[in-house]
Amino acid sequence: MRRVAVGLLGLGTVGGGVARLLLGEADRIARRAGKRIELKGVLVRDRAKPRSVEGVSDLLTTDPHRLIDDPSIEVIIETIGGTDRALEWILAALSAGKHVVTANKAVLAEHGGLIFNEARRFGRAVAFEGAVGGGIPIIQALGVALAANEIRSISAILNGTCNFILTSMDQGGLTYSSALAEAQARGYAESDPTLDVDGTDTAHKLAILAQLAFGVNVTIDQIPRGGIDRLQAADVRYAAELGYTVKLLALARLSAAGLTLRVAPTLVRRGTPLAEVGGAFNAIRVFGDAVGETLFYGRGAGMLPTASAVVGDLIDVVVGRAELTSNILNLWSSDRGVPALRPARPDEVRSRYYLRFTIVDRPGVLARLAHVLGDHAISIASVIQHDPGENDGPGSPVPLVIMTHQATEAGVVAALDHIDTLDVVYAPSVRLGVEE
Ligand code: NAP
Ligand code: HSE
Repeated sequence: MRRVAVGLLGLGTVGGGVARLLLGEADRIARRAGKRIELKGVLVRDRAKPRSVEGVSDLLTTDPHRLIDDPSIEVIIETIGGTDRALEWILAALSAGKHVVTANKAVLAEHGGLIFNEARRFGRAVAFEGAVGGGIPIIQALGVALAANEIRSISAILNGTCNFILTSMDQGGLTYSSALAEAQARGYAESDPTLDVDGTDTAHKLAILAQLAFGVNVTIDQIPRGGIDRLQAADVRYAAELGYTVKLLALARLSAAGLTLRVAPTLVRRGTPLAEVGGAFNAIRVFGDAVGETLFYGRGAGMLPTASAVVGDLIDVVVGRAELTSNILNLWSSDRGVPALRPARPDEVRSRYYLRFTIVDRPGVLARLAHVLGDHAISIASVIQHDPGENDGPGSPVPLVIMTHQATEAGVVAALDHIDTLDVVYAPSVRLGVEE
């Protein structure tokens, strides 16, 4: 059987899983690929660090060019993460005539145009199933299996770390910081976990999905994004009282108004599929005009789930499918013949909203707030205000939670700007969208 030599950059969570599969399941992978895959070398920063993957110690190197410049190596697998070195070595690998497999959403979301132009110039494939949704085959689904559809919407949980934290806070009573530490210990988090919790990682993934689903080149600066780092435990509790759970959602909506993309903590009604996604699992709901509603679910982070996607890509490259798909999809190209999509304006985006105000507890305050909401055509669906605590006297701050009916984002923003100036309101108001 013919052999294909590959070089692996990185031996952390993902790279370690890839090496484990390539070395431990070599026969199975050879049967699926039709060729024997030989792991020729593995780039690490520190050769002295203990490694948990058997049989890898003789393959380690700290010199990327030993792999990139080795003419016998046909595929480079990039799992080092980040956007500087990763970009440099991906481009070097392509110009050396190698195909590239990567799980790095940051480098694709930020430099996809350059990477895919170079791939086209050198006639090589770039495969990236592990970059979005970990082990869930969503890239194949959007790029190939759903290609007959106009995608109308995507609602997705794309960050395992955030979903793990939110589930642990909601169901396990963990504090935000201990849930984050646990997610890091399990290898779900990025090396800088700020990227997970501030919504950047989810926005990177949404930018990639938007490229596949709608043919648009968006940078993450064009995606309004919020994370869970400023979410307060009180909002998770009030959401539960109202029959909702809070999830960090990536949302894409195509309508006559244009394309709306956003990442935000969002109330999701309990009992609906996305609300029931717990722990580090991810889920992606895609609505296509022909297929209707679809749901993709699985482990969105972690060693072997992500390695499953990366090695699947490698097999695709070795079989020759990835090159074909890469060419036909023409990703991140300026001339894809896709009609320009305009971003929908805030006065065209409608949703129900969860609003929390911190107000003075005295007669007439609720009426004043309701009046401002009414002035902006915002109709109230329900209200929660608990009795003040024993130690709170009259006039002390109390939370007031309002669920609205459908309202425009522009109207809600304007109403909250006005309400926050009132002398009966203590702290900036909280606004979260609602996904039914
Ligand atoms: P990680 O655990 O931090 O591993 C990074 C690996 O790359 C380490 O082996 C490190 O070497 C090596 N490395 C980093 N910089 C290097 C440099 N300048 N020179 C040589 N080696 C270098 O990262 P990870 O969690 O596996 O993530 C890797 C990529 O996969 C990222 O793009 C991430 O976004 C993506 N991803 C991660 C997951 C996940 O669940 N973790 C899931 C999907 C996608 P040492 O071992 O010597 O330090
Ligand atoms: N840090 C990412 C997450 C890894 O938690 O989902 C998978 O992309």
